[in-house]
Amino acid sequence: MSTNPGSDVENGHVQREVSPEQRAVEERLVANVVASFDACEDLRLKELMVSLVKHLHGFIREVRLTEREWETAIAFLTRAGHITDDVRQEFILLSDTLGASMQTININNQAYANATEATVFGPFFVADSPEIEVGGDIVFGAPGEPCWVEGTVTDTDGKPLAGARIEVWEADEDGLYDVQRDAAKRAARAHLFTREDGSYDFWGLTPTPYPIPNDGPVGQMLEAVGRSPLRASHLHFMVSHENARTLVTHIFPDGDPIGWKDTVFGVKESLIKTFERQPAQSPTPDGRAVEGTWSRVRFDIVLAPAGA
Ligand SMILES: [Fe+2]
Repeated sequence: MSTNPGSDVENGHVQREVSPEQRAVEERLVANVVASFDACEDLRLKELMVSLVKHLHGFIREVRLTEREWETAIAFLTRAGHITDDVRQEFILLSDTLGASMQTININNQAYANATEATVFGPFFVADSPEIEVGGDIVFGAPGEPCWVEGTVTDTDGKPLAGARIEVWEADEDGLYDVQRDAAKRAARAHLFTREDGSYDFWGLTPTPYPIPNDGPVGQMLEAVGRSPLRASHLHFMVSHENARTLVTHIFPDGDPIGWKDTVFGVKESLIKTFERQPAQSPTPDGRAVEGTWSRVRFDIVLAPAGA
């Protein structure tokens, strides 16, 4: 596509009046592109492509996209591709910051009875986290204020789920995940299994807000529109059991300075929990000596049945 130097962008306005003849030209193109998928034998793929084309053309026509804006969009996607590698995933950031990740989660994890709600997975899960004993410590030297996390895992009838696998991971007080410091490092993340009565507890860190990686095109987009790159403070959970639907979620401290302004729209009312601040040298649930302040939170997890 060539740039039209006399385009309406330079004139500071967009031509929105469309004659019947022009509308017919535009609609004929949409129909031609839709028809190009007629022979597609994979009906789901055909549905996806036809809908994508209709919405994409609907967007282009609604905003009367200029050629310069089209070129800007192509350059943006090109930069997103160039910065993406095994560790940095700019397209997930883009999906997250446009709410597309959260909407996909909403659609695929619909409310089931009293089951705990899901939220975004995020880009910092790693599959090979260390295993800790229940009651153990996930911190492994990451900086931050200690936080005692406790709760139960049950089914929607309240029956305890023994041996449920709980994966937990979080940023440290500098707002960094272990893998951002060193790809081989594992800290402030672990997995553990619930006791026979479905209970669990462990030491982690009091969550703090952190920015999503904002030195790339997504960061530039957020800055251009006046949005913060900060995520609400949170602690990630992934909880699985053979008889249950796997839950991917976070908990968020109440009173968080970012809260509902979370840049990936992950906050849900039911996931906001009270992190009770504890004075320095106060006794801890497991008798561990903690020099400074610490916090504690309870998170009772309810899993929907498998296949729900
Ligand atoms: Fe996170």
